[in-house]
Amino acid sequence: MKILMVGSGGREHALIKKLLESDRVDSVICAPGNGGISCDAECFSVNVMDIDGMISLAKEQNVDFVFVAPDDPLAAGMVDAFEKEGIKAFGPSALAARIESSKVFSKNLMKKYGIPTAAYEVFSDSEAAVAYIESTGKFPVVIKADGLALGKGVIIAEDLESAKDAVKSIMEDKVFGASGNNIVVEEFLTGPEVSVLAFTDGKTLAPMVSSMDHKRALDGDKGLNTGGMGTVAPNPYYTKEIAQECMDTIFMPTVKAMCSEGCPFKGCLYFGLMLTPDGPKVIEYNSRFGDPETQVVLPLLETPLVDIIEAVADETLDKINVVFAEESCACVIMASGGYPGSYAKGVEIKGLNDKGNVDGAVVYHAGTKLENGKFLTNGGRVLGVTARAENLPSALEKAYAATQLISFDGAHKRNDIGKRALEALR
Ligand code: AMP
Ligand code: GLY
Repeated sequence: MKILMVGSGGREHALIKKLLESDRVDSVICAPGNGGISCDAECFSVNVMDIDGMISLAKEQNVDFVFVAPDDPLAAGMVDAFEKEGIKAFGPSALAARIESSKVFSKNLMKKYGIPTAAYEVFSDSEAAVAYIESTGKFPVVIKADGLALGKGVIIAEDLESAKDAVKSIMEDKVFGASGNNIVVEEFLTGPEVSVLAFTDGKTLAPMVSSMDHKRALDGDKGLNTGGMGTVAPNPYYTKEIAQECMDTIFMPTVKAMCSEGCPFKGCLYFGLMLTPDGPKVIEYNSRFGDPETQVVLPLLETPLVDIIEAVADETLDKINVVFAEESCACVIMASGGYPGSYAKGVEIKGLNDKGNVDGAVVYHAGTKLENGKFLTNGGRVLGVTARAENLPSALEKAYAATQLISFDGAHKRNDIGKRALEALR
């Protein structure tokens, strides 16, 4: 098989390395890819949103299967477009991708089908939203732009003044563009957060090992929200009992709800959960693999990934036994200085071998490029330094030891990835 991977991050690099483990996969190509990916897969400079360009590339390159990893092209209907051309693709249809691309859609879905989530109201008018927030008088309050906003469309307002500012900036100043035409105002929940990715073919759902993301830029969960500064798997808060409860009250009800709505979800469904004192609740759905959750989940997957994604496309996932190793994985992100604000690009990365790797860990490349045999930074999140071991302390030790071998000017990482998870294990 020859597979086209659409995307350019650490998640895509991890997916490509996993696919290449199978003898059934002859080669993977990637568009647009990055410096590290180009060591594993030939890269082509087609933009992720260029649907016609991706179809032409797949045809020219005689690709058998396409994997669409990022949210934007999924929401824009890239998988529908490939299927229309008779090319098999992994990922949800545009209609099913609304579970991530529209918070109003996902919240209304959960309300209609009784799936536990934070209580909420939807507003298309800023004055009505502010009046509602004033009337509840409950703070903090959570304000979410309806549409995709690069993970930045969620504001937790501590008081009425900041809530008013948030509503104004989203709905009137349109800081997230049309994504802010509607907003969701919801109840603030508390508890440990868990990410669960699951394969589903629209009928059967196979959960992957759980993980824990670290979204804030600085140690101690301080600083701005980022795409994710590191992950560990499994997540020790997510016990077998909680997993069963989630399967019964959240996962299967979601799969069935999407069928009932006439848009069965096929692909990777990401459940962002909060384990509240009242039980697990959905914080958000994503219509795709998470980044950097993928980097710690896939190294533990024992079943060939290619077999699973084909079964999802063919709707035969019930025939596959999806198995994970009972070990642990840790990923530490090395980011550009200044991220998630502005940062320099083109800075030389030292310490990587000619394949972009180091001893003792796997380095998944995110924002890098390869020029004249040198790896240079090319984005906010640069590398995901990842290690697998028999337990979490050893995995963290290996990953952090490997980060010491790598350097670039301004490099920033969190030094407390996995700390909360280790506390839960004690
Ligand atoms: P989202 O983009 O929906 O995942 O939200 C980003 C982050 O905001 C989540 O990972 C949570 O930490 C936080 N968050 C979102 N919704 C809530 C909520 N209802 N209560 C508390 N925290 C929330
Ligand atoms: N790491 C969170 C996400 O992929 O949305």
